[in-house]
Amino acid sequence: MVPLIPLLFATPFAGSAVCAGCHVEQAKTQLASAHAKALTARDGGRWDFGSGLQAVTPVSRLDSNTYLERGLSFYKSLNREDLTPGHADSRGVRYPIFSPGGEILRCFLCHSTGVPAVSADGVIQPGEPGVRCETCHGPGAAHVAARGRGNLLNPRALNADGLNQLCGSCHRKPAAAGAETDYRNAWNTRHQPLYLAKSQCFLKSKGTMSCLTCHPAHGGATRTGPAMCSQCHSPPKHTARTVTAGKKCESCHMPDVVPRPGLRFANHWIGVYRRGEALVPLR
Ligand code: HEC
Ligand code: HEC
Ligand code: HEC
Ligand code: HEC
Ligand code: HEC
Ligand code: HEC
Ligand code: HEC
Repeated sequence: MVPLIPLLFATPFAGSAVCAGCHVEQAKTQLASAHAKALTARDGGRWDFGSGLQAVTPVSRLDSNTYLERGLSFYKSLNREDLTPGHADSRGVRYPIFSPGGEILRCFLCHSTGVPAVSADGVIQPGEPGVRCETCHGPGAAHVAARGRGNLLNPRALNADGLNQLCGSCHRKPAAAGAETDYRNAWNTRHQPLYLAKSQCFLKSKGTMSCLTCHPAHGGATRTGPAMCSQCHSPPKHTARTVTAGKKCESCHMPDVVPRPGLRFANHWIGVYRRGEALVPLR
């Protein structure tokens, strides 16, 4: 979110309902996206993290200093609860609100819009639940006051690197100082920008490939299959033993990785994979 940090504190947020008054089309699509549903308030100080596309993890307030990340999450494809990623048992993990690692506040930072507030009795209130308009466009009150004239970030003005950084502010793991990414650790495939950046497609397309090459900014179906790859590739000449009929390009070149039952990520390191090896391509 590099370009947004200075904006965050400079002008106030308007809220997506206000944006929807004028940008009907974008608002309709975005409201239906997993981004918009990434965080939902439930009764009793409980928050559900995750849209449910893959999984939902509840987080709840225990007392004025402590939040609990539940040990059981609901996995859609399993249609049942099972251990939350990273947890050793179902008791859950307690975090002080202001823990040194900032675990709980960081959950809210990536799953909501604006700056979360913490009241004196330890109630965390996100600016707006979910990844909404002003996450990517910056605070919009000034834009609204000027009835739409400027005062806002249009990421269209960013180059591919800037776009990947904007999306990567949440989709990439925070770089631990000096830590190398282990590309053979299946959990890391959830950090799509890291893997994409290893692909020849990305490295050799002269800075034109971004997340938006395949993902519409406001949600909706990923562009896939030959139509998407053929933006850059003429029909590939596969050898006779590679049977591609009826299969999508990405099923072989961006294979699914399953770090635990119930979660799957498309490997964004586009390449040629050996059968049964979905983490690091042959080339
Ligand atoms: C009172 C109506 C109104 C409201 C409310 C409004 N906008 Fe706009 N917006 C406009 C108009 C008019 C334009 C310029 C013409 C156009 O491209 O539609 C615009 C342009 C934009 C652009 C393109 C800017 C550019 O420089 O290319 C973005 C992005 C945008 N609005 C996002 C938002 C967001 C996010 C919100 C809520 C915080 C919002 N708008 C609220 C009327 C509005
Ligand atoms: C503020 C953090 C944040 C930013 C910035 C962000 N995302 Fe996300 N994104 C999320 C979260 C959280 C989810 C998980 C939603 C869920 O629970 O299913 C998600 C899910 C997704 C998904 C999977 C769900 C789907 O709709 O298919 C895609 C694709 C995606 N984001 C693309 C992008 C792109 C492209 C950008 C940049 C234009 C971006 N994201 C910027 C936080 C963010
Ligand atoms: C650095 C930003 C970031 C932080 C911090 C973060 N999330 Fe997420 N979260 C995401 C993104 C991005 C996704 C989408 C996963 C994907 O498809 O890559 C996601 C997805 C999820 C999902 C959907 C299931 C899944 O694993 O994909 C759940 C549940 C979730 N997060 C819960 C949490 C909880 C609870 C915390 C705090 C302990 C947290 N997240 C902290 C960015 C973040
Ligand atoms: C995950 C990031 C993200 C979120 C959330 C988001 N936008 Fe955008 N928006 C973009 C990007 C990237 C572009 C420029 C590229 C494009 O239009 O595909 C854009 C472009 C726009 C434009 C200009 C239209 C144009 O074609 O240039 C408007 C208006 C807009 N968004 C409104 C909204 C509104 C309203 C919301 C909330 C309902 C919203 N956006 C949420 C990333 C986002
Ligand atoms: C933005 C342009 C672009 C898009 C979109 C794109 N590629 Fe590529 N791809 C390239 C370039 C450039 C190369 C490098 C070609 C070379 O080295 O001559 C490449 C290389 C490859 C390679 C060879 C990899 C290697 O390591 O030797 C494969 C396989 C591939 N692409 C498959 C795909 C598939 C499948 C898709 C769709 C999911 C896709 N590409 C989308 C630009 C792109
Ligand atoms: C060459 C096309 C392509 C590019 C570029 C691309 N993606 Fe994807 N992405 C896909 C495909 C294909 C899927 C799997 C189908 C689906 O879930 O819609 C996917 C799935 C995802 C998901 C859902 C979870 C997963 O891993 O399957 C997220 C989140 C995501 N992409 C984020 C990003 C981000 C962030 C970027 C930019 C760094 C990006 N993608 C760039 C094609 C692409
Ligand atoms: C059944 C799995 C499979 C499917 C589906 C598939 N490929 Fe491939 N692809 C491979 C394999 C294996 C290779 C390397 C051996 C070969 O050439 O047959 C390869 C090679 C490639 C190369 C590199 C060729 C070179 O000269 O280095 C490109 C580019 C490519 N595929 C693009 C695509 C595109 C685009 C699609 C969709 C229209 C697609 N592939 C569908 C398995 C697949």
